[in-house]
Amino acid sequence: MQIAVMVSGGGTNLQAIIDAIDSGKITNTEICLVYSNNPNAYAIERAKKAGIPYAVKSPKEFADRKDFNEALLQILKDANPDLIVLAGCLVVIPESVVKEFAGRIINIHPSLIPSFCGTGFYGLKVHEKALERGVRVSGATVHFVDEGTDTGPIILQKPVMIQPDDTAEVLQKRIMEQAEWKILPMAIDLIANNRVKIVDNKVVIDGYCDLSL
Ligand code: GRF
Repeated sequence: MQIAVMVSGGGTNLQAIIDAIDSGKITNTEICLVYSNNPNAYAIERAKKAGIPYAVKSPKEFADRKDFNEALLQILKDANPDLIVLAGCLVVIPESVVKEFAGRIINIHPSLIPSFCGTGFYGLKVHEKALERGVRVSGATVHFVDEGTDTGPIILQKPVMIQPDDTAEVLQKRIMEQAEWKILPMAIDLIANNRVKIVDNKVVIDGYCDLSL
């Protein structure tokens, strides 16, 4: 399976995917493209280091959002991936891309959906809101992308306990280490090995899968 990974920032989730492919935790998978909207994303350095093709295209280069959306769709069509992985990608995915790659886009979100998700819940804000609400547990979710924001079928989730002195930054880091870097590679491996099906808008995983990770 060929995957395109879309990023905007540090790219630690991208790195987790690269490492899992190298170590054999993800099988049958090659990264055919890393796309970033942000030319300064450290994720691009990670792609370069790993010898992975990359593309940078920012909406700021275009006067009209429509033109950016077309350019983005063309970049993705040219890469021709079987799966698109949103790994910290802050660009709103155009409807045309969701249509073209229907059922073939997944996203990692740093909370247990349906909590702390939807419009406006991105980056540190997710963790600020979780701490503000005083939840005892948060975590991460890998889900398919549909036309809504964080509304597609859930593939994997992993809970992470909140600690009394957590700040949003500390919690963000713990959720990445304990959840995101594990469930995102695992979801890709499951899809690459044809073990993920959608039935009645819910994901069914074929065969045994150790969700305790
Ligand atoms: C992660 O917390 C991810 O869940 C969120 O953005 C962050 C990306 O981090 N959507 P990185 O670029 O993978 O380091």
